[in-house]
Amino acid sequence: MKIFVTRRLPDSVMARARGMGAELHDSDTALNDTDRAALLRDYDAVVCTLGDRFSADMFAGDPRCRLIANFGVGYNHIDADAAQAAGITVTNTPGVLTDATADLAMALMLMALRRAGEGERMVRADAWPGWTPTQMLGQTVTGRTLGIVGMGRIGQAMARRAHHGFGMQILYYNRSAKDLNFPAQRLDTVEDLAAQADVVAIHAPGGADTRHLFGAAAIAAMKPTGVLINTSRGDVVDEGALIEALESGAIYAAGLDVYEAEPAVPARLRALDNAVLLPHLGSATLEVREAMGNMALDNVEAFVAGRQVPNPV
Ligand code: DGY
Repeated sequence: MKIFVTRRLPDSVMARARGMGAELHDSDTALNDTDRAALLRDYDAVVCTLGDRFSADMFAGDPRCRLIANFGVGYNHIDADAAQAAGITVTNTPGVLTDATADLAMALMLMALRRAGEGERMVRADAWPGWTPTQMLGQTVTGRTLGIVGMGRIGQAMARRAHHGFGMQILYYNRSAKDLNFPAQRLDTVEDLAAQADVVAIHAPGGADTRHLFGAAAIAAMKPTGVLINTSRGDVVDEGALIEALESGAIYAAGLDVYEAEPAVPARLRALDNAVLLPHLGSATLEVREAMGNMALDNVEAFVAGRQVPNPV
């Protein structure tokens, strides 16, 4: 069995992969499309990450590969239908990054409501004139209404934090109703949710099915005091419409960890004081990245041993 790992992962995961006989692209730079497509011809199992695009055309011919083990829960960079049609199983790493990503969504919400990014920039620029009673007044967090778009694992983890920790009311938009152990009201449209929530947090998977799910109409429906948080995938939100709403003051602020054309972040967005911008840090803790790597390798190990893989998508 030939196994290939496309990117540098935490040391302990690299060591385990090496022990399994895998070949390692021990680099932070992604392989180009041609080299990545060649992996499907030459290897039985490929461990890949966010940013490693596997599009339908790459599965043409008769690839040797039978497993793509994605290091990450989101797999919108892989055409999973085309992979399946080519006889390739795709696996992901659900669960292990839920709390870390929900924590970061909370951090973005707190920063956006309390203008913490703006304040931090002011201090760093040595531009703080000193405390005044009316300086940089943000919005109180406790008791506000949080609208979750996509009530999966991470959406629920954020809602629990917001409800139990900050006394927030929870609304949600999700294809199906969820049996939740905290009070939450399901709404039928994202526009209704946008109109009623003080903070909207996006937790949808990204890809063709959810592209611009939170589009111009939903952004226009938000309150002028509304805040949009996105830690899932950039393409779920219409980024152009969001920038216009932030520029015009039609909404209050945004807290973003993901962007439509990552790692490119539009200059207009970077110029905005009411946008808190992070570089896709949702799952970025050592423990979580080790857990993600080990989960990806557990799938490879099961595949090599001829067992059912634990995390097929
Ligand atoms: C995921 O797992 O989908 C994250 O976005 C990458 O860490």
